[in-house]
Amino acid sequence: MKKFFITTPIYYINDVPHIGHTCTTVTADIVGRWHRQLGEEVFFLTGTDEHGQKVAEVAEKEGLSPKDYCDKIAPRFEEAWKSLDISFDFFIRTTDPRHEKVVAEVLQKIFNSGDVYKGKYEGYYCVGCEKFVTESELVDKHCPLHPPEQTEFKSEENWFFKLSKYVPEIIKLVEDDKTNYILPAGKRAEVLAKLKAGVNDVSLSREKVSWGIPLPWDKSQTVYVWFDALLNYYSVTQFIESKSDFWPANLHLLGKEILWFHTVIWQAMLLSADLPLPLKTFTHSFYMIDGQKMSKSLGNVISPQQLIDLFGVDGSRYLIARSFPGENDGDVGMERFKEKYNADLANNLGNLVSRVCKLGEGLRIQNPSKSPFEERETFSKLIDELKLGEAMGWVFEKFIDKSNNRLNEVAPWKLEATDPKRIEVLTECVNNLRHAAFFLKPIMPETCRLVEKVLGEEIKPLEKPLFPRI
Ligand code: MSP
Repeated sequence: MKKFFITTPIYYINDVPHIGHTCTTVTADIVGRWHRQLGEEVFFLTGTDEHGQKVAEVAEKEGLSPKDYCDKIAPRFEEAWKSLDISFDFFIRTTDPRHEKVVAEVLQKIFNSGDVYKGKYEGYYCVGCEKFVTESELVDKHCPLHPPEQTEFKSEENWFFKLSKYVPEIIKLVEDDKTNYILPAGKRAEVLAKLKAGVNDVSLSREKVSWGIPLPWDKSQTVYVWFDALLNYYSVTQFIESKSDFWPANLHLLGKEILWFHTVIWQAMLLSADLPLPLKTFTHSFYMIDGQKMSKSLGNVISPQQLIDLFGVDGSRYLIARSFPGENDGDVGMERFKEKYNADLANNLGNLVSRVCKLGEGLRIQNPSKSPFEERETFSKLIDELKLGEAMGWVFEKFIDKSNNRLNEVAPWKLEATDPKRIEVLTECVNNLRHAAFFLKPIMPETCRLVEKVLGEEIKPLEKPLFPRI
């Protein structure tokens, strides 16, 4: 059986889940479910990033030990994903001692490769990003992604990793069309330009952050949280026996702000430890909320629960995926979501299913000559390219809009129940909907199962509308 290992970033636990995290997780779920539907053995991994300065600080503010704080928040992520019907196979927490053990082992390998030396870091650090930032990345002396006070000046003794040593090899990998591991193409160009502009070595440990994994060869320091976090993708394949042959990952899905970590630092770490490299990374852009960055201070953060309360589980999944920000940032907002929900789900798909069920109740309709599986090529390609919006657009246009138009054209409700024209148009609609359900199942699993049930061998009535109008 073909194997497919897909991951999301592991989310920082200083915050509770929001629509940004949801975007990546729902997308990974859709891709994972689609691969399962194609008959592959899928391993879908998500989890939480629990060490580091930022988590330690939040825990202290809450008056909890870092571990107690993590134990309190991690389930919030797991529950959020469960309530969105996310089919993850494992939820990794970086405070899992089995993960910590693998991190120490891999870092020891990096040390043994001679890629580590002691030095002094003097410069800026953004606690929000958990990142050593260069002056050129600062805007008005602070990291533009986080509130100004989160950029701190640091002077600390660190162990450094010889990232620069691996730059020529990584440039070759990026330029090689066969590897082509950075998607989409715009991100590949961005990384290449940065690599060619010159790269400094990076800190691999922290001197004064005690909330982390002790460095195996110098217990007075802890592993810098990014070296710990990236290793989650690999560690899980080492400590879960049944997942041991899933490394290297087929696809890391991530947001644009962590591109460099996933396409350069991660590769260099693995090269240094002599481990296979992940096959693909896809870096998406960001949701903006009504034209603005989403932030607590602006009070415009949308939680997954808010979506579920209004649009239901499948409605939320649809809206998230439909507005997936691939190459460019994409604007979303509650009002826009409502309009899209009503237009696509309540008035279009939902209404079609209810009309067909009502008009065709009791009819037995044979499957079409061509199965949806045989018609999967376009959809499959769009999913591979993470063009989720287009993939869904294809399904709607080809199967759903077409059926609604045909119904309006033929107006079967005006015809006798036995009129061949009425049977013909209903047959066409039922088969279109069966196809649509096949393709939309990774996106709206529950709804599609229900559609398959009412439009099975014999058409059954729908007990309530699939998507009540809002
Ligand atoms: N802990 C690190 C990742 C370590 S992975 C080895 C981290 N965590 S995070 O909690 O900040 O999550 C960042 C990720 O959340 C982004 O890369 C992206 O996947 C998702 N998003 C956060 N905000 C987002 C939007 N506004 N829009 C879309 N996705 C966004 O970074």
